[in-house]
Amino acid sequence: MFHGRRILLIIGGGIAAYKSLQLIREFQKKGATVVPVMTRGAAEFVTPLSVAALSKNKVFKDLFDLNDESEMGHIELSRSSDLIVVAPATANLMAKMAFGVASDLASTLLLATDTPVLIAPAMNVRMWEHPATQNNVKILMKNGIHFSGPEEGDMACGEFGFGRMSEPEAIVKAASEILINGPLRNKHILITSGPTHEPIDPVRYIANRSSGNQGSAIANALIALGAKVTFISGPSISEMPKNCHIIKVETAIEMLKAVKSAIPCDVAIFSAAVSDWRVENQNINKIKKNGLNDGLKINFVENPDILKTISNLEHNRPKLVIGFAAETDNLLKNATEKRNSKGCDWILLNDVSPETGIMGGEENQITLISSSENEEWPRMSKSAVANQLAKKIVDLGI
Ligand code: CTP
Repeated sequence: MFHGRRILLIIGGGIAAYKSLQLIREFQKKGATVVPVMTRGAAEFVTPLSVAALSKNKVFKDLFDLNDESEMGHIELSRSSDLIVVAPATANLMAKMAFGVASDLASTLLLATDTPVLIAPAMNVRMWEHPATQNNVKILMKNGIHFSGPEEGDMACGEFGFGRMSEPEAIVKAASEILINGPLRNKHILITSGPTHEPIDPVRYIANRSSGNQGSAIANALIALGAKVTFISGPSISEMPKNCHIIKVETAIEMLKAVKSAIPCDVAIFSAAVSDWRVENQNINKIKKNGLNDGLKINFVENPDILKTISNLEHNRPKLVIGFAAETDNLLKNATEKRNSKGCDWILLNDVSPETGIMGGEENQITLISSSENEEWPRMSKSAVANQLAKKIVDLGI
């Protein structure tokens, strides 16, 4: 897969640095040559000797090592590979990358390079969630940096959440997708997915039966073609796609905020089953049944329509906006009206009557409605629908 390819691997100073040894082996198994660079911090976690022995290459550590005329200069080192992989990418290294700080060899190489860069962030969950890091993530994504992870799970510091470095196999897969040079390379695609939960009180909420399976499948299909995906998901039971930027939300209002923060993008696909309503006065405390003589009455107010908002943006409207129409009757008529009223380019009609088993199920049957045609697709798996949609996007030549 990587025969003849040269990967510059920058190892940052974090506990996950031990996984970089496995990463070197995985890249080599696929035929790549790995040129290692270690930060000062990285050398506290793994020894340069192990990295040199495994990679069968000199380890570059110091900017001033490179001043010797017999050595490769930092500009050349930064550009002589097909891909730069930063694993683990610490919060500090990401901040330097976002702001163009060149204070050591690793950050100087990252500033001097014009080759694609893939980073595998690894840090404590609070550091990952901190607005400073999240702002840096946005800057890096805007600058075309590719991400692998971070993943959610138990962390070395004893906490749980996003911040674990992707496993070496996942990083290699992400690297292959970049090097494969898919037709959607450098395209930023935003996808909403799953249901939203609208709280009634601290323990109860309004939801719907969406599994998020179709959204995840669409993300996987687009990532495989090289797209940079921002995946904004409500509380879904579906497995999250890998190698993309995931933003988890609960409510429609949070989803709209996340969508706005992810723009600009080339294509936006709204597959989420967003609750049209939210509870007007959310109770701070749990509602008790005693004392509700007339039963429980809840007032609802309308949620913002995310698809409509983005379709009607005056600035930064994505070139292609795709919505779904979940209908149970008057399918074509309702979906066509929905496309017109929302102002999106394509709407994917699906029949969500209980007897179809589509909502929450494994299969889907789509009619794609655009300004010029209604194209009926046969019933197929949700991943086949995703591939078909990805193909239509590629054919459009966005
Ligand atoms: N949608 C959205 N924000 C909302 C409601 C819907 O972004 N508040 C998007 C969905 O993601 C989908 C499209 O709008 O792409 C249509 O959703 P659907 O549930 O079929 O229709 P609604 O707009 O909710 O209208 P209705 O429930 O009356 O059919």
